[in-house]
Amino acid sequence: MSAADVTGRLAQAAGSVSKDRLWRRHLEMSRIGATGRGGLNRLALTPEDGQAQALIAGWAAARGYTTTRDAAGNVFIRREGSRPDAPAVMTGSHLDSQPNGGCFDGTYGVLAGFEVLEALDDAGIATPHPIEVVAWMNEEGSRFVPGAMGSAAFTGFLPLQDVLEKKDAAGVTVREALARIDGSTPLAARAPGPPPAAYVEAHIEQGPILESRGDTIGVVTGIQGIRRFAVEVLGEEGHAGTTPRASRKDALSAAVALISALERLTADAEDQVRFTVGRMAVEPNSPNTIPGKVTFSIDLRHPSKDLLARTGDLIHATVSEVAASRRVDAKVQDISFVAPTTFLPLVPEAVRSAASAEGLPHHVLPSGAGHDAMHLSRICPTGMVFIPCLNGRSHTEVESATPEDLFAGARVLARVIAELALQSC
Ligand code: GLV
Ligand code: MN
Ligand code: MN
Repeated sequence: MSAADVTGRLAQAAGSVSKDRLWRRHLEMSRIGATGRGGLNRLALTPEDGQAQALIAGWAAARGYTTTRDAAGNVFIRREGSRPDAPAVMTGSHLDSQPNGGCFDGTYGVLAGFEVLEALDDAGIATPHPIEVVAWMNEEGSRFVPGAMGSAAFTGFLPLQDVLEKKDAAGVTVREALARIDGSTPLAARAPGPPPAAYVEAHIEQGPILESRGDTIGVVTGIQGIRRFAVEVLGEEGHAGTTPRASRKDALSAAVALISALERLTADAEDQVRFTVGRMAVEPNSPNTIPGKVTFSIDLRHPSKDLLARTGDLIHATVSEVAASRRVDAKVQDISFVAPTTFLPLVPEAVRSAASAEGLPHHVLPSGAGHDAMHLSRICPTGMVFIPCLNGRSHTEVESATPEDLFAGARVLARVIAELALQSC
């Protein structure tokens, strides 16, 4: 195919993206797990996650695409290529949400990918490479820790058996939750295939940069690194009215002191280190009993692997020191360490040139949030397309994005996917 032919097809692909269809699909998908306050509660492998998968599988069947699920619970919608043995060009994101999540985080990448398949069909464009739209299992990491677990298993970053044994707060394993979803939303099993030819993920930025600059498209260069820890503090339960302070071993007041010390440890002048304690459980959680046990999570992020290694390692020592001064026992468990990701230039360059071709103002930036793309980049050329979200807010029910920006991002995605999938194998 000549360069001019390719250029024409890319314009056709983008020109066939439907703003209304994409928006309607978002509205329909947002009903599954709706909180009633404009947000979503669609945790991984819950019945709602299964319903979301069933909805898109139904749309796929109507278009003649096949939908499969792999052993890690990732769902793949496949538009065949003219050379079916060729590696697939993959796109997608996730359908699970935070407990008080928004309607666009993850969902957009899946629906934009699906819109690209439909746009290519509507434009009558056949591609040598198959194209697969993926909904990765448990990207959010809210129900099962760590996040991006499905893509980690797919790429071999985490052994599948380890992923299947992870438990939620109620003690349900991924294996058990998957068996339930396989029962309620059966899908054909995915046959193993070659690694993808490339992976492109569309996502809301989840931060304020694009909106504040007035840019529509983010050309993503990579993803900052993430370390996760679980801390357990063991004190001694006792009566709130009778136990003098001097003899208390209060796990909660020790946890508060620990967290303050860790905030000081991780503070930096540039305000680049992200330190978050997002989950805490207190036992027995009774107003008039001195807490005997507290567990909490730590999410630590930075673009430098060395800094994450050094600062993260100091967490262990800081916790031991503060625990000793508070007469409690505390232990820190390393949960995961995903090093910072730098995408190879291939996909970011395609995103930049697609944004230019669409006449969209764009900005080159790294991702502050984690994404499945960080794991896919280990096995194939990878990149991401960001669009703005209202006030940069995400992981909240107020998360919002405009139909125009969703549409713009999907047009860029259509060009990039078409360009990659049209390449000779
Ligand atoms: C994904 O939602 C993340 O934690 O960045
Ligand atoms: Mn996401
Ligand atoms: Mn998220």
